[in-house]
Amino acid sequence: MKDNIALIGFMGSGKTTVGKILARYLDMKFIDIDRAICAREKKTIPEIFEEKGEDYFRRLERLIIEEESSENNIVIATGGGVIIDNENIKNLKKTSYVVYLDCDVETIYQRVKRNKNRPLLNVENMYEKIEELYNKRRTLYSISSDLTIAINKNTNIYDTVENIKNA
Ligand code: S3P
Repeated sequence: MKDNIALIGFMGSGKTTVGKILARYLDMKFIDIDRAICAREKKTIPEIFEEKGEDYFRRLERLIIEEESSENNIVIATGGGVIIDNENIKNLKKTSYVVYLDCDVETIYQRVKRNKNRPLLNVENMYEKIEELYNKRRTLYSISSDLTIAINKNTNIYDTVENIKNA
C-alpha cells in the first residue's frame, strides 16, 4: 500500500524544506535520504564524492531508499539524482505517492549558485550544467511521479504543501 509520500525533483527544488513542513502537517515521520547517507558515512556529500566516488554514493542511496521504503507513514525527501536508478523508482513507486517538484532552471540556479554542497554542480559553467542535467532528467522525474507541482521563484512553500495535502 502507498503509505508514504516521496518528494523528487532537481537539486534546489525544495524537497527537504517542503518535506519537513508536510510531515509536520500530516503527522508523519520525515526522512531525508541525503542526510541519512551522510549520517551513515559520517561524512558530507562532497567528501563522499571526493573520497569514494559517485558510484559509491549511488549504491548507498539505493540501499537507504530500499530500507526506508519498507517503513510506513513517512515523508521521504530524495536526492535529485534518485531517478537515474530504475530500482529506486520501483521501490518508491511501490510504497509511496511520488510528488515531483518541478522547478524552473533559473530559479534552481539562483537557489544553488552559492552552495558548495553539491559536487555535480561544482563546475565553472554551473548554469549550463544545471540545464544539461535538467534536460536529461526531466522526463524521468515526470514519468516517475503521481503528481507534478510547478515551482518558480514566486511559489509560496505553504501553497506547495497545501497542494500536496489536497491531492
Ligand atoms: C544530487 C543531488 C543532491 C545529492 C547529490 C547528488 C543529484 O541532493 O544527492 O549531490 O545527482 O542531483 P539534493 O537534490 O537534495 O541537492
